[in-house]
Amino acid sequence: MSLVSKVQQIVEEFTISDELLNAAVDHFIWATEHGLRHHTDLGMPMIPSFVTSVPTGKEKGTFLAVDLGGTNFRVCSVELNGDSTYDLIQSKHPVPHDYMVGKTEEFFGYLADKIEEFLKVHHEGHFAQEDVEKKIFKMGFTFSFPVDQTALNRGTLIRWTKGYDIKDAVGQDVVLLLQEQINKRKLPIHVAALVNDTVGTLMTRSYTKPEGSENSTTLIGCIFGTGTNGAYSEKIKTIAKFDLTQNPEMINEKLMVINTEWGSFDNRLKVIPNNRFDDQLNKLTPNPGYHMFEKRISGMFLGELLRLVLIEVQNDIFTGGGVSDNSTNTNLNTPWSLDSSIPALIDADDSKDLTKTQQMVKSVLGFDTTIEQRQAIQQLSKAIGKRSAYLSAVPIAGLVLHTKALEKFSQDIDVGADGSVVEFYPNFEQMIRVALRKTKIGDQEKRIKIGLAKDGSGVGAALCALVA
Ligand code: BGC
Repeated sequence: MSLVSKVQQIVEEFTISDELLNAAVDHFIWATEHGLRHHTDLGMPMIPSFVTSVPTGKEKGTFLAVDLGGTNFRVCSVELNGDSTYDLIQSKHPVPHDYMVGKTEEFFGYLADKIEEFLKVHHEGHFAQEDVEKKIFKMGFTFSFPVDQTALNRGTLIRWTKGYDIKDAVGQDVVLLLQEQINKRKLPIHVAALVNDTVGTLMTRSYTKPEGSENSTTLIGCIFGTGTNGAYSEKIKTIAKFDLTQNPEMINEKLMVINTEWGSFDNRLKVIPNNRFDDQLNKLTPNPGYHMFEKRISGMFLGELLRLVLIEVQNDIFTGGGVSDNSTNTNLNTPWSLDSSIPALIDADDSKDLTKTQQMVKSVLGFDTTIEQRQAIQQLSKAIGKRSAYLSAVPIAGLVLHTKALEKFSQDIDVGADGSVVEFYPNFEQMIRVALRKTKIGDQEKRIKIGLAKDGSGVGAALCALVA
């Protein structure tokens, strides 16, 4: 088979037909409703967040927030000014890989050390207080992994995602684990709220863009970054699995923000595509069989999918055609050696003769390529990126349809989004929009505004600490 036909075949394997897209949206709506009724292991978790209101923009105060994401740990001090604006000081630390797969105590100890360093630099006064009790900071803890939440500041870890694998933490309350390390260091901090990053993003977007402003209503907070997920507000009476007798303090509340954990949509692969590269990738992850939707969409996986595809066509792409094959030092056979910035750069390359792709392939994989070979690599990258964006439209369409937001609100529907993929992958939002138009949303797609909610998770955690 020629290179052109091989590439064509792989591109087809990554193509989402209109029929598949619509079947996925229908299945997403079913999974949403099922998850609201039943506790489920393989299904979409639909986790009640215990957050029962969204901000108005008038909130005020200084709060600490920490944010553990797939790649970084951030410590922030957030000042909410009460007029939809905030000031933020933060320190950011890439989490060392050894901690990501190490022991619980060491990991949470590392987080507490970073909090201590931050306090020493930015809130030295707090250490000088004699009556520390009166000056205790309320801290919001953004934890971007699935937890079974039992109160605003309680939640047990269901499983790790995005490459983390600290086995003995699963099943433990992550707030208690962090508070214990904070107490050991005698820091004046009370962990007041445990917040998923998507819940934080929804809160931030509502704070910075209060309802009614810019003529829109914030419906969804979502992340397309190392991982993917979304949160939205649901009527408490619709959350059949939420037992009000166990949570009597919620009896008068009307709404609750739900952390959908849509990364686990269709773990059974009833509708979403599953080609041989997806299959190989799944086997390389520490959570095989879970978060299957995420593994087709988010930043942690796009580069790895490209690597697996390139392995299949390596004999056509990296040799022959008069180019030198200096493959002895290649990363091609090293799992996770390509991060998502690589397909993003290749996809966006509009330089003459794809020279940027040439440099990238040479520096990362060690190969020279001909122009035809680079065109093939670009086509493959684009296919992976486009599938990711089309699938990303599924939960957005699904939640808009499930909540009947287009009929309920006369204004536009606002979606607050954060994460490296939506921010940096070329044309990601435009591709989501093309896909939205192909669903039942149709030309109402223009009423859906997707706005970047930068730093959403940190500010959102502060907003939740305030509620607490
Ligand atoms: C986690 C979610 C998180 C998402 C985005 C997923 O892997 O399960 O809790 O919201 O990544 O960070």
